Amino acid sequence: MKNILFQKDLITVDNLNRDNVHLIFEKAEEMEKLVGKRGGNDSLKGRIMAALFFEPSSRTFSSFITSMQRLGGGIIPLNGMANTSIAKGETLEDTAKVFSSYADIIVMRHPTGGAAGIAAKFAEIPVVNAGDGINEHPSQALIDLFTIKQAFKRLNNLHILMIGDLAHYRPTNSLAKLLVNYPGIKMSFATPEEVSLPDNVRKYLKEHNISFEEYNEFDNLLPKVDVLYVTRVKKEYMSEELYHKVQGSYVVDRKLISKMKKNSIIMHCLPRVGEIDSEIDGDPRSIFMTKQVRNGMYVRMAILDLILRNQ
Ligand code: CP
Repeated sequence: MKNILFQKDLITVDNLNRDNVHLIFEKAEEMEKLVGKRGGNDSLKGRIMAALFFEPSSRTFSSFITSMQRLGGGIIPLNGMANTSIAKGETLEDTAKVFSSYADIIVMRHPTGGAAGIAAKFAEIPVVNAGDGINEHPSQALIDLFTIKQAFKRLNNLHILMIGDLAHYRPTNSLAKLLVNYPGIKMSFATPEEVSLPDNVRKYLKEHNISFEEYNEFDNLLPKVDVLYVTRVKKEYMSEELYHKVQGSYVVDRKLISKMKKNSIIMHCLPRVGEIDSEIDGDPRSIFMTKQVRNGMYVRMAILDLILRNQ
């Protein structure tokens, strides 16, 4: 299959079709085997990744860093911009141009929706969106889809329930958009009224003729769903007043998951702040702290390798 990711930006999942996703997943499976056998290789030796994180991150930042290192590449790791010239007022445009001279790829997280796309316009090297405001988080959605595929050995005919603050949660925006590519997918969304699904995602699903339902309560859906995707209330994107209103609305605990099917899975791309009780961490359906986290590295290794090497 032609590597259409080569030297391309990854800003949104909108242009990713099933073939593109399949290519990334095949490569991610290769990466999982590679890490298991040898820890890594030198396929990206001599290449440099600039990780420009204008917003806090543990997983996305570290997994992109370790992905590059496991493939023999170098890194410019900037997690927080307080000690960079951004703090002196340098523009996003100039930053993108400058790092194009030092690196072969930019991975960027930014609090403003559309920021990665702007950086991509000015950069002379590929830009990967590592989360832009409340807009998208494409690599996380690919990780989540890969994890679902591993669990069910398929991506069609599944019922996925996403719960929590979906108004501000970029990974579920990207995941919902990716899921439209698979037949028989049913999506349900349960949120407090004030933080319901963004209009642009609703519109995207309607345009793709996807049937979906929105709720405020979800207990009676639990016996039917294959995937329960839990999200954090994104305090950093809302007023104190709204945060106190919606925080704690949903807490997934042992009692709730007792209603779920034996072969269902519970996902969360983390960090969690109270919405999943740690009493369910040991349940075999809880894969958020194990497979979902580890897949972050394999999928990001795949993304970097496919963007940086024509193969
Ligand atoms: N899942 C995720 O994006 O986590 P971080 O914010 O820690 O990168």
